[in-house]
Amino acid sequence: MPSFSHSPVEEVKSRLDIAEVIGEYIPLKPSGPERLRARCPFHNEKTPSFMVSRDRQIFHCFGCGEGGDVISFVQKMEGLEFPDALRLLAKKANIELPSFDPKLNSERAAVLEALKLAASFYHEVLLRATTAEQARRYVSKARRLNENTVEQFQLGFAPDAWDSLTVALKKRGVTEAHLVSAGLAVRREKGEGVYDRFRNRLMFPIRDAHGSVVGFGGRAMDEKEPAKYINTPQTLVYNKSTILFGLDTAKHEIRKQKVAVIVEGYMDCISSHQAGVTNVVASSGTALTDGQVLLLKRYAPTVALAFDMDPAGETAAKRGIAVAWKEGLDVKVISLPFGKDPDECIKQDPEGWFNAIGKAQPILDFYFSRTLDSRDRTNVQHKKEAAKILLPILATVADAIEQTHYVQKLARWLNVDEHILHQKLQPPKRKAGAEEKPVPVVDRKERLSQRLIGVLQLEPSAIPQAQQLLPPEALNGQWQDLYKFVLLQYSSDHTPQAADWPQAIAQRDPSLADALAIASLAVSDLTDATPVERHREAHTVAQELARLWLGQQLRQLTVALTQAELSKDAAMVKELSNRFTTLTEQLRQL
Ligand code: CTP
Ligand code: MN
Repeated sequence: MPSFSHSPVEEVKSRLDIAEVIGEYIPLKPSGPERLRARCPFHNEKTPSFMVSRDRQIFHCFGCGEGGDVISFVQKMEGLEFPDALRLLAKKANIELPSFDPKLNSERAAVLEALKLAASFYHEVLLRATTAEQARRYVSKARRLNENTVEQFQLGFAPDAWDSLTVALKKRGVTEAHLVSAGLAVRREKGEGVYDRFRNRLMFPIRDAHGSVVGFGGRAMDEKEPAKYINTPQTLVYNKSTILFGLDTAKHEIRKQKVAVIVEGYMDCISSHQAGVTNVVASSGTALTDGQVLLLKRYAPTVALAFDMDPAGETAAKRGIAVAWKEGLDVKVISLPFGKDPDECIKQDPEGWFNAIGKAQPILDFYFSRTLDSRDRTNVQHKKEAAKILLPILATVADAIEQTHYVQKLARWLNVDEHILHQKLQPPKRKAGAEEKPVPVVDRKERLSQRLIGVLQLEPSAIPQAQQLLPPEALNGQWQDLYKFVLLQYSSDHTPQAADWPQAIAQRDPSLADALAIASLAVSDLTDATPVERHREAHTVAQELARLWLGQQLRQLTVALTQAELSKDAAMVKELSNRFTTLTEQLRQL
């Protein structure tokens, strides 16, 4: 066993160059000394904001906030856990890692192989077996799926027998143990052996984003059968909360169109692809999970949900919306003109489905029209109901400008003072539980802050201009500290040398050194810009930050104002109102 001077992790990292490793996945372009850039592989973007730093051996995307070292890159790119990513890189670096479990690897591979064989077995049966005559009729007549579609999705049929798959796969060397761990067979409770999990069902292979079959959905052929669908249970390779049906086929179109259409059912997804709308995936009947949203985020900034808006579908949609929002995705709602689901709508008239997608509504507009259109604004009971429905939804809107826009809209409809509504907005409650883990999202403010520091570092002569527009309080945390540092450099020397900053900052506060490095990566696009262009950028960024800050101040002020009104503190009301007017004025002048 090899011995390591330091940890295996350090050893692996020190033998590899992050730029070379990443360069094997995506094309990197040089962007300044020791620095490369690319279009981010983790989210959809036109202009490259994914940066790799050779000297620091890190990557950072200024669009989506992903960042880290070579191991975390491979983890994210390949969807691997840390130990697996480390193993993969160790192999690349020709390092033998001490002790790990090769059994797990071979187990995964065996399960995947069994699933792949099963998919082609079911498919062959559907295409050719005499026992699948009825299934073929069902597919082509009742569901109107053509041969291409059957081929493309590798649809299949599980015969009406206890062991047809088991027998066929055993012949090809698959063990009973692997049939069971793949979720394809079930152990008999009494006696020896296993039996097929899926019998007399139309089979939908479920693939991961790379196209490997990881599970199945099986639809009953008999409408009297109590379980309409049976799905693969959780296995080594299948976790339904991180899978989207159809993503392997839809991902390119999702990237291209910058929007992912999400339907509930396998059939909805397949019909839509057949009808020519191919940026569609299915959540498989559950509310969107964090895992699914994170997956989608790599491909598009917007999701359009075509969920049933019946009470069950609606709660699923609502949970999905909350999750997608939290991740900073734009959410739209597709309302079907007819039919109970997209599949039925397409069957009646595909045109209806195209139009519905074209008319997808921003989620808040959807909630507003659905709540307000059916209510009478002169009826006090209706007003209370409307507020009760919409306020909790508005409370979850993270973007202050967006939130204020809709609060104003509601206030106008209710004919009440906007301040009162602001005060009623409680911050969203966080529920305990595994699904609720907060995932950091780079918000606009963070992004703008990085850019501001970066551009001032490139062009210190723009500092006074920024200072005029933007007080340090407008920034948060480390960016505020850095901004203060930058202002200080200027006030002590009107021609400060930004080249000295990394060292100076490292001496004062080492934790800020990384932030400064990220800031400089954030403006690689400005390396070749002229001073005039840099000044313009500094101005725009400082102005945007000032806007965000004023917006936030105004919201706080409205709350304070309402409280002052309630406690009938006239002097305070007057003072706060004046301040409100001043801030509004400042905001207007920006
Ligand atoms: N589903 C499931 N188990 C069930 C019912 C539904 O896993 N017992 C999932 C399936 O992924 C299904 C989706 O939820 O595709 C939507 O369910 P539903 O609307 O009932 O079925 P459809 O997909 O519309 O199927 P069909 O059109 O064949 O009735
Ligand atoms: Mn259906």
